[in-house]
Amino acid sequence: MTEEKLSGDVFYPDEETVAKARVPDWHALAAEAEQDYLGFWEREAKELHWFAPWNQVLDDTQQPFYKWFTGALTNIVYNCLDRHVATARRNKLALIWEGENGDFKSLSYFALRRDVCRFANVLRSLGLVKGDRVTIYMGRIPELPIAMLACATIGAVHSVVFGGFTVEALADRIEDSQSKVLITCDGAYQRGKIVPLKQIADEALHRAGTVESVLVVKRTGEEVNMEQGRDMWFHELMNLPIASGPCKMEIVDAEDPLFMLYTSGTTGKPKAILHTHGGYMVGTYTTMKYVFDIREEDRYWCAADPGWITGHSYIVYGPLLNGTTSFLYEGAPTYPYPNRWWQMIEKYGINIFYTAPTAIRGLMRFGDAWPNRHDLSSLRLLGSVGEPINPEAWKWYHRVIGKDHCPIMDTWWQTETGMFMITPVPSLPLKPGSGTRPFPGLQMDILNEEGQPVGTNEEGYLVIKNPWPAMMRTLYKDPEKYLELYWSKYPGIYLTGDSARRDEDGYYWIIGRVDDVIKVSGYRLGTAEIESALVSHHAVAEAAAIGLPHELQGNAIHAYVILKVGEKVHDGLVEELRKHVAHEIGPIARPEKIEIVDSLPKTRSGKIMRRVLKARALGQDPGNLATLEE
Ligand code: WT7
Repeated sequence: MTEEKLSGDVFYPDEETVAKARVPDWHALAAEAEQDYLGFWEREAKELHWFAPWNQVLDDTQQPFYKWFTGALTNIVYNCLDRHVATARRNKLALIWEGENGDFKSLSYFALRRDVCRFANVLRSLGLVKGDRVTIYMGRIPELPIAMLACATIGAVHSVVFGGFTVEALADRIEDSQSKVLITCDGAYQRGKIVPLKQIADEALHRAGTVESVLVVKRTGEEVNMEQGRDMWFHELMNLPIASGPCKMEIVDAEDPLFMLYTSGTTGKPKAILHTHGGYMVGTYTTMKYVFDIREEDRYWCAADPGWITGHSYIVYGPLLNGTTSFLYEGAPTYPYPNRWWQMIEKYGINIFYTAPTAIRGLMRFGDAWPNRHDLSSLRLLGSVGEPINPEAWKWYHRVIGKDHCPIMDTWWQTETGMFMITPVPSLPLKPGSGTRPFPGLQMDILNEEGQPVGTNEEGYLVIKNPWPAMMRTLYKDPEKYLELYWSKYPGIYLTGDSARRDEDGYYWIIGRVDDVIKVSGYRLGTAEIESALVSHHAVAEAAAIGLPHELQGNAIHAYVILKVGEKVHDGLVEELRKHVAHEIGPIARPEKIEIVDSLPKTRSGKIMRRVLKARALGQDPGNLATLEE
């Protein structure tokens, strides 16, 4: 490997890391993939099992509606489970789980496959067939991946709704997906309390009418309402004769949908990103393997929630495709004390740990003594995702958690991309705060308004110029929006919605979103969702939401509200509105601050100018106000 000399604050990998790395020379792999990116992905795809081969790696005749591995037959679950069960991995642990209250469960590949098959039989017996949508709304318990994999087994399309969302967010997603089945649990442990998921689900089902069956996992044992003829207990179904016996896996086309996942965009309600079996499988398998350098003996922990893309790709599918052992934890990192995570890394001997900057900043606040009480020497690799990581937090993570020897994989990607896009591999020199370079095979760039590449260290729009296998295929039921949101600013080029710069060494630095998406603690929320939740309160006529920098959460939501004529400001109104948003969308969407105002800055066509509100809140110059109406 050629010794690179890079500028700025650089952390070079140690010799041992490079010597053992699956990719000792990133540049060689990248050069090979650049020459022939389809050849690169095809070679990776051949490491997986297919029931019938593809005629074409990429079909771009209807771009940007790209198709990958056309003509191939597969099922991602076969590669996640069956493939391993047929080998010595049969008895290897697939999943280790700890509940917040100390409960414990582990499942070997054999056991996970058995439970997935049983549940797949249950789902079939309810009349579900290939293509049907199923909403999953649960806490972080093993039954969540089991439910996802069971859906995929029969070709049903899962739509997981994050357990931290509440009534309106859940109702919207059920309604839009027209799910016939909802899988949920009685409750979830969070910070020593119980989140009443079934109760929230009941309220959501009241507003959204397509669900015929509700399957409920008993987690807490709290009393819940079970509606006759609609609600059934998971454990009872799993013990019925229909659950046992062989389960016929649905052989699907590579392009058949695997799941949809709602995510917040620039306007209106959240949209469902659609991913498919074949390409998504190849993308998550390959990136997981190279970036986390997966080895047979690894124990891997991604501390995200399965309800977000990070959990789909790198708790459920990526780790299982690679036959690795994944750890899942139900609760909060600080419960009962701020050493909970470090304690579990020691207890389970975790080798690879992947989390978000907001969590790192939050735990850093409690000081070094908490992690220092624990033996963290099993760790060899760390990861970060969700928002830019500030160099200070990076260095703390590197020094205090990684003991100066664990490379940090800062992975930039999106719900839409399905897989890591800008990321190092362990042998690449790192710069705190930069995700380094595009993954091999990807052509990325940073463009100005006119579509020209910007100069070194200049800010511009981050774009992707060639297709990749795990890319979303469309927005569910809305192909026009897919074209408009992602492919219209620069024809033939994918617009990420982020701004970025590239330094003199070709390293990418993400600056942030350039649209109306707010990242709060790494969670993606749209201004429109928060605004419509506010307006659904009887006293509110109009609302505007913006994201302002926040030390721990990255961004905090501030909202401006105009009351309806005749409504009076009273003590407690602001608090009532904040609670209302938390009840409708979820606690993560609760605005930090709400100001009652008489007017909002708008364009002549009536659009709220959030950038003016933001500039005012930050005491900055609002810039060009030519279009401002009032
Ligand atoms: C947005 C996508 C993909 C997993 C979780 C988020 C931001 C994500 C990074 C990173 C800087 C990041 C971007 C992106 N983002 N990872 N490593 N460094 N920013 O998925 O909810 O779809 O959000 O998260 O702004 O566009 P998501």
